[in-house]
Amino acid sequence: MRKGSQLVVDLKILGENYSKVKDLAPNADVLFMVKADAYGHGLVPVSSYAHKELGIKDFGCASVGEAMALRSQLKDEKFEIYVFSDTQLELTEFSQYYVNHRVKPVLKTLQDLDFFLNCDDFKFFPICLKFNTGMNRLGIDFDKREQVIELLKKHGRSEVHHLMTHFACASQSMNKNKRNLKAREEFNILKEDFRNAGISVEHTSIANSGAIEQKVGLEETHIRPGLMMYGPSSLNPGLENLSHYDGRLISRLETYVINTFEVEQGQPIGYGATPVPHAGVVAVIALGYGDGFPTRFRGAKLRFQDEIGVVSGRVNMDMSAVLFDKNSKIKAGDKFTVWDQDTEFYKQLCTHAQSIPYEIFCQITPRVPRIYSLK
Ligand SMILES: Cc1ncc(COP(=O)(O)O)c(C=O)c1O
Repeated sequence: MRKGSQLVVDLKILGENYSKVKDLAPNADVLFMVKADAYGHGLVPVSSYAHKELGIKDFGCASVGEAMALRSQLKDEKFEIYVFSDTQLELTEFSQYYVNHRVKPVLKTLQDLDFFLNCDDFKFFPICLKFNTGMNRLGIDFDKREQVIELLKKHGRSEVHHLMTHFACASQSMNKNKRNLKAREEFNILKEDFRNAGISVEHTSIANSGAIEQKVGLEETHIRPGLMMYGPSSLNPGLENLSHYDGRLISRLETYVINTFEVEQGQPIGYGATPVPHAGVVAVIALGYGDGFPTRFRGAKLRFQDEIGVVSGRVNMDMSAVLFDKNSKIKAGDKFTVWDQDTEFYKQLCTHAQSIPYEIFCQITPRVPRIYSLK
């Protein structure tokens, strides 16, 4: 843990973003994706606020371990948890855990479904099915839908609790990208085939952030936003005009200045003795790759009050150098904000690092305490 560096998570802004999501999809329930520690923001505090203050009733985890952490720390709360990828169904201890703690595994292969239907523990447990309509990662192949229907009938199951699919290219146009169009079409066929086979489907969902922002998939019973709830748009740079969403970042990454010194043009600094491109003031900030401030931030522009500095030389494990102009007012002890609520600035930073907003959030390490603000 680093004293002085912190990720300040403003939960009120989570509420604001949620309202904006609901404005887009007033008739759909939100299944809030909180996998990977709520995209790096803290699984339990974020989910707790989302449930108690915002009334969100459905949460999506990646692994059964995440689901266990969430359920065990918010024992008395009545929300639903889905486990999407790392379900580990076949381990007896987990199949019993699912049933005893109302955690729903999303069945994403035929083997999963077969195991589920043959396992006594799950005999009366809700069935959640995810189909592959072009993502080619997890999901039962669209072409196997008849087989699925037969299996369900054979086991006397005439109800699917939640039918889902997932877009592979939601950060691209929903109306032009062929893969997105195909996924939408196949999902409609799936729903129809289940209906025609006499299998009722209670809940459906297809839309993640990119789709929701483009107002696609909002007619299903649920939407599954992840990234947009934390602030950023998930559309690729250059496609901002397709988005109907204007969220604010729920987090602010703060650190402080450990040292400042003046440099002449060409003076070497830090590991590798990188010469600075111009004379100025170097501020050494207390964040490095050990905190999740990646080496790829080298060359990124950061703000200090009304000044712009450039991350110069190599990012170190626990500190980085930011070069400002000669007349900079920055000094040791100053608070330094790497990103704030400005989503555009954050997205530029991610693009500079040849990364994506998801990754930069998730890689903030446990050295940086998460502080929760309700201001
Ligand atoms: C199945 C599923 N649905 C929804 C989401 C949310 O995606 P996004 O963060 O792009 O909204 C994810 C995230 O990876 C997912 O795996």
